[in-house]
Amino acid sequence: MAGLLRSALFVPADKPRALAKAAGLEADAVILDLEDAVAPPHKDAARAAALKALRQGPWTAPVRAVRINALSSAWGEADVLALAASGPDALVIPKVESAADVHNVRAQIRRAMGHAALPGPHLWAMVETPQGILKLEEIAASAAAAGLTTLVFGANDLATALHCDPLAAHRQALLAHLSRLVLVARSFGLRVLDGVYNAFEDAEGFAAEARQGKTLGFDGKTLIHPAQIAAANAIFGPTDEQIKQARVIVRAFALKKNAGKGAINLNGQMVERLHLENAKALLDSLPAGLAQPRQRKAAPKRKTSS
Ligand code: COA
Ligand code: MG
Repeated sequence: MAGLLRSALFVPADKPRALAKAAGLEADAVILDLEDAVAPPHKDAARAAALKALRQGPWTAPVRAVRINALSSAWGEADVLALAASGPDALVIPKVESAADVHNVRAQIRRAMGHAALPGPHLWAMVETPQGILKLEEIAASAAAAGLTTLVFGANDLATALHCDPLAAHRQALLAHLSRLVLVARSFGLRVLDGVYNAFEDAEGFAAEARQGKTLGFDGKTLIHPAQIAAANAIFGPTDEQIKQARVIVRAFALKKNAGKGAINLNGQMVERLHLENAKALLDSLPAGLAQPRQRKAAPKRKTSS
């Protein structure tokens, strides 16, 4: 799953207005939620609504994910059976506490798909319990075999379980766990999303927390309200300057005089192939509209006097 993952919006699957609105929102991912956002009496209806929404489309968001209920709950198995073959790009597994939690979902997906050779959805693991944090390495190490691609920080559940104040002093109580998530994700080549910010009317507070997540190394942030999308996209996306510099690096290495060189002089700066790879990855991750340099408008032809 290439592409930017700056913003991933949770959408309660039992709210028809939210589902309808979500289809046209410019988040990099939508996560149709069957778990915490849906009360037990509405679980079956929410699953049916998520299925219908996935089939109907079209979706502006390039990535469509569904957060299932845990397999240990009364609904998890039915969620996987119904959704595995219905085209979501990813299934988000809540409260993952062991590699087995990920492998068991993959096994259910295979069963649901009749053991077809098709790859099925990617798996994202929510890390939101003390055990999940402790077992993070074991969970991430299962990535290749089970199709785990992304770790998601579950701020609300973790703070509740730890009896800590998640917001005090710029998330001081959570910092060690946030950094550990980034460390493990990078060690195992996974993507990593920061937790949600509950006060959706506090744009300043959201921006400050998103900038902190960006500084810590997260790819993007999970969101609860459409009002948070634009800020997340801006804060986690590459700046115009970074895009411009990436193009300069790619062009410089493409010059004949630089063919086969490991390091080059670019306006007095050493630039290595590592930077070239980073520049290419940045350009590859951009949405189509940003991937090509903006064409300068041709100058209007001057009227020549005859
Ligand atoms: N996804 C899509 N649309 C959403 C949305 C979301 N997460 N949250 C709100 N909207 C829509 C509303 O449906 C409403 O659309 P409408 O004008 O067509 O009715 C519009 O955005 C404005 O919503 P607003 O009135 O500001 O908020 P609300 O009171 O309807 O909802 C919340 C507030 C917090 C209950 C709601 O944002 C929500 O349910 N968020 C997701 C919660 C969740 O998934 N939690 C689990 C993960 S932590
Ligand atoms: Mg939760």
